[in-house]
Amino acid sequence: MTRQKIAVLGGTGKEGSGLALRWAAAGFDVTIGSRELAKAQLAAAELYTAVGQDSVHGMTNRDAAAQADIVVMSVPYAAHTCTLESVRDVVQGKVFVDVTVPLDPANVRRVKLPAAGSAAIEAQQLLGQAVRVVAAFQNISAEHLKSLDHEIECDVLVCGNDKDAKMQVIELAQAAHMQAWDAGPIENAVVVEGLTSVLINLNIKHKVKAAGIRITGIPRP
Ligand SMILES: NC(=O)c1ccc[n+]([C@@H]2O[C@H](COP(=O)([O-])OP(=O)(O)OC[C@H]3O[C@@H](n4cnc5c(N)ncnc54)[C@H](OP(=O)(O)O)[C@@H]3O)[C@@H](O)[C@H]2O)c1
Repeated sequence: MTRQKIAVLGGTGKEGSGLALRWAAAGFDVTIGSRELAKAQLAAAELYTAVGQDSVHGMTNRDAAAQADIVVMSVPYAAHTCTLESVRDVVQGKVFVDVTVPLDPANVRRVKLPAAGSAAIEAQQLLGQAVRVVAAFQNISAEHLKSLDHEIECDVLVCGNDKDAKMQVIELAQAAHMQAWDAGPIENAVVVEGLTSVLINLNIKHKVKAAGIRITGIPRP
């Protein structure tokens, strides 16, 4: 079976590189995207060293998105709109996973969401209805992702309007050894994005780096 091609835009960063590491280790064809080709290639070379898979590549964000089946975007909120605009035409018809949290740089502990409701809704509006936008991974600290032998005791809440796209993202989370749940339509991403500031509060208060959430009351698969 041909493995899906995953592009991680902003995959040179903390969160994106961790997701890319886990998917590359699971055998997916993974392309790291960056604004700079050389930076993407360097990150891909590091990924190759870590996992020994030759199905890892480095490209500009736009080229990475164009050749992928599933596009994951993990950039700071300040870069959300410009990164979306840079790939809008090449992601039409694809599954697009938005990991972005619209943190307020002035106070990351306080929830501050965009006027549209959430970063994910902004992505859906900007990319158009032909793109199957899914919001996921916003509550998984990069600290959990960077080591392959670390067991992640945090669940992923997956929001979006396309059931099949959400199922594909749930399977991606499972391949990266995380439990994921369909958490409803894209409007629900407001809660998931806001929850990240709550987790940051807990991190600071308890002097830890990676507080997370787990869903209880449902039998775990
Ligand atoms: N870090 C975490 O633990 C964590 C957890 C959950 C969710 N998130 C969310 O995931 C997203 C990424 O977080 P991160 O910690 O990985 O961020 P990051 O390391 O600061 O940045 C990720 C990448 O985004 C690109 N970027 C940075 N500034 C940019 C700009 N002004 N314009 C365009 N691209 C820019 C850079 O890639 P290039 O320079 O290569 O283009 C960078 O490597 C954020 O929305 C964050 O809130 C993070």
